[in-house]
Amino acid sequence: MRYYVCTLFPDMIRQIMGTSILGRAEKNGYISVNTVNIRDFSQKKSMRVDDYPYGGGAGMVMEPEPVYQAVQSALQRAAEDRKAEDCGRAAADRNAGGEQRTAGADRIKESGEKKDASGGIRTRVIYLTPQARVLDQTMVEELAREKELVLLCGHYEGIDERVLQETVTDYVSIGDYVLTGGELGAAVLMDAVSRFVPGVLHNDESSQFESMQDNLLEYPHFTRPEQWHGRKVPPVLLTGDHGKIEEWRYQQAVARTQERRPDLLKNSFVLHTFWYGSQEAEEYASCLHGRISRYGEIQNYNRNKLIRSRNVLGNQELLLLVEGAGADGDVPFEERFRNLYGSGKTLAWICSDGSLAEKKKEFLADRGFRLLGCSRYSDAENTEQTDRLALDIRKKALHLAGR
Ligand code: ADE
Repeated sequence: MRYYVCTLFPDMIRQIMGTSILGRAEKNGYISVNTVNIRDFSQKKSMRVDDYPYGGGAGMVMEPEPVYQAVQSALQRAAEDRKAEDCGRAAADRNAGGEQRTAGADRIKESGEKKDASGGIRTRVIYLTPQARVLDQTMVEELAREKELVLLCGHYEGIDERVLQETVTDYVSIGDYVLTGGELGAAVLMDAVSRFVPGVLHNDESSQFESMQDNLLEYPHFTRPEQWHGRKVPPVLLTGDHGKIEEWRYQQAVARTQERRPDLLKNSFVLHTFWYGSQEAEEYASCLHGRISRYGEIQNYNRNKLIRSRNVLGNQELLLLVEGAGADGDVPFEERFRNLYGSGKTLAWICSDGSLAEKKKEFLADRGFRLLGCSRYSDAENTEQTDRLALDIRKKALHLAGR
């Protein structure tokens, strides 16, 4: 990930980003942090970049031209760095016989990067401002899919509206309070996004699944000693029974969310995954499930017992059906789900042959399910595609659950 930060205080960005895990990530080449000093583009002898607001009022406003030039400079550097990276990839391709790496157009296609009108990549230019949607984990994950980000930090009362209209693609706030400038917001965004860049976190620093992703706060953590200031570690954590521990952690996560952030709980969901058909489906089901939620169950829907029992899913449950090849020949779709019922709010997703989507949609709607979408499953090895699908499902589930 390459960051280009347009700011009046580049030292502030360098200080924060050069420390701890992010400093290490930059040294090791997983991220790069480039700063563009907006003052370098001042058109005044005094090197000032602000002026009085039209219409009067308190405070100063940043002038459009220096901001415009700074953003253009950042975009140009981003384009040069991208080209250099693509050349490096192409050279590696040639050395590896053209098979190992993906360069240029194919890479863009795979990564889902957006193109501008002239066919080039449209780099996102993010303006940090309190007048915007507040950054959350889903937005962070989405931004982490980009190869580069330009961040624009304002000061004083703000920036002339016209240059924002001309250059900014995204407006992001880090919370409902007003800071003295956008630099801390930019640093927060870069910190959160960098955690998703492969290689930035070591294994012992990252959990495969993050607190917040299924709208639950994380369960409490404990380490040695077993007793501290008379307080004991919860006994279940010492049992070694992983099933029980997971159950306890889920209950703690729900209780903590209920107590501290009941607003989140309203939008959370419990994921039930049913796979049926081939073994391949089982593998994919567990892979996808793990990327959508850290909790919930994965069940084998080939089992007669399960097919025969009546399963009613509550209204905050998300059903994920993963159908393996040849499953229909085994038990017809309608038969298999004869006993699966949902209420209006329950959400379903089927991963199988896309052409059957319409038929299944109607069938599931009759049983009270709302189909989020239907997608052909890929192989579990294709992590990029699986990650994108999981994020898409999660976003839709959270949205439909009342966001
Ligand atoms: N600049 C000033 N306040 C801000 C906030 N809350 N988020 C992002 N940028 C800001």
